Amino acid sequence: MRMTTKANERRNFLKGLLAAGLGGLAVAVPTGVGLAVVIEPLRRAAVGAGWTKIAPLAALPADGVPRRFAVVADRVNAWTKTPAVPVGAVYLRRTAERQVRAFNVVCPHAGCLVDYAPARSGFLCPCHNSAFGLDGGVSEPSSPSPRGLDELEVELRDDGNVWVRFQNFQSGTPGKVPA
Ligand code: FES
Repeated sequence: MRMTTKANERRNFLKGLLAAGLGGLAVAVPTGVGLAVVIEPLRRAAVGAGWTKIAPLAALPADGVPRRFAVVADRVNAWTKTPAVPVGAVYLRRTAERQVRAFNVVCPHAGCLVDYAPARSGFLCPCHNSAFGLDGGVSEPSSPSPRGLDELEVELRDDGNVWVRFQNFQSGTPGKVPA
């Protein structure tokens, strides 16, 4: 009789344990799905603006002098989408009749915005004097920037406009690591 009671107690204990485990699982699955729904917009918000129309090709001087343009795109900020806001800026430089190079204006050293410096035939960062050539490369050994300006992919489309695949990169690293 005593043995039967002990066996019953053990069976009840195991039943309780199983019920608690299944209950926890039932909560964990929706929680995991819910977490994915919450995290996904944040993950997407970190992605760059992608292919963006910048300016008509005709707006670029034929002599290769760089022009600075704002990058205007829809900003996806976690759960909200704001259409047509400035998300960055680029220098465009025409290097042949139908050839354009694009550089992100952000200095790879610590994130200041570089200026076009005609007297130097290049770019200069006002924060710590990193100097870059018109090709975007570091032009003076004293420059603290660990890499040249971040070049971006360019397409000249049939609509007559220059499109750039806009992206930001981490500062302070020798390699281009998407931000
Ligand atoms: S941020 Fe440009 S040189 Fe430091």
